Amino acid sequence: YKRITTKSLIEMKSNGEKISMLTAYDYTMAKIVDTAGVDVILVGDSASNVMAGHETTLPITLDQMIYHASSVVRAVERALVVVDLPFGSYQSDPKEALRSSIRIMKESGGHAVKLEGGKEIKESIKKILHAGIPVMGHLGLTPQSIYKFGTYSVRAKEEEEAEKLIEDAQMLEKVGCFAVVLEKIPAELAKKVADSISIPVIGIGAGGGVDGQVLVIHDMLGMNNEFSPRFLRRYLNLYEEMTKAIGQYAADVKSQDFPNEKEQY
Ligand code: KIV
Ligand code: NA
Repeated sequence: YKRITTKSLIEMKSNGEKISMLTAYDYTMAKIVDTAGVDVILVGDSASNVMAGHETTLPITLDQMIYHASSVVRAVERALVVVDLPFGSYQSDPKEALRSSIRIMKESGGHAVKLEGGKEIKESIKKILHAGIPVMGHLGLTPQSIYKFGTYSVRAKEEEEAEKLIEDAQMLEKVGCFAVVLEKIPAELAKKVADSISIPVIGIGAGGGVDGQVLVIHDMLGMNNEFSPRFLRRYLNLYEEMTKAIGQYAADVKSQDFPNEKEQY
């Protein structure tokens, strides 16, 4: 694929090719992620946590999401760029949801939007889709509802919640979403959902029986050593590497090792 589209992702699912997805929030990181060949870049509202240091995803604004997304879009040549609609930008009514989605598409150049929730936001999703904007769903643990759940623990372990999740996933397919994220639910349930719909299911903490995987880039690079859920595989320990490098720089300045004769004019 020269350029990933929502169609390519659906093709990948029918060919049994797994989809790779990572977050990015800025130009430099997005360039690296795109060059490395990741299929989908998510400008997640997790920027609220990893970029801004908030405890939850709730405070990030639509303007801030557009700033992150436009920085990412300028770097990307191949990946599909999906942008989260932040808390408060789509829950009031379908018109607000459409207005926010249009702002994202026009002002950032992103390729699709993602919203958290099932049948509660069905009319909003339909309205956005009718405007020609591709929508990715997000079910299971939905961090914008943290104050309703009270914890970030595994979702849909009980029959009732599992059944609602399956219905919601089928509804998302039926109205025309091109993919759905399932966050932190039992692997068996996630596989069941993936097997029951034809659009790709991208998992985070949802096991290997789905059609693709997503992680927060700062977590998988080990830049953040405070967050260690079971589903997280760390590919580097950048926290340690960077602290060492930066500590060395600070020491070199103090000792006047830096700059040397070759590092000046
Ligand atoms: O904001 C985010 O990073 C996300 C992923 C965890 C799916 O929504
Ligand atoms: Na998100």
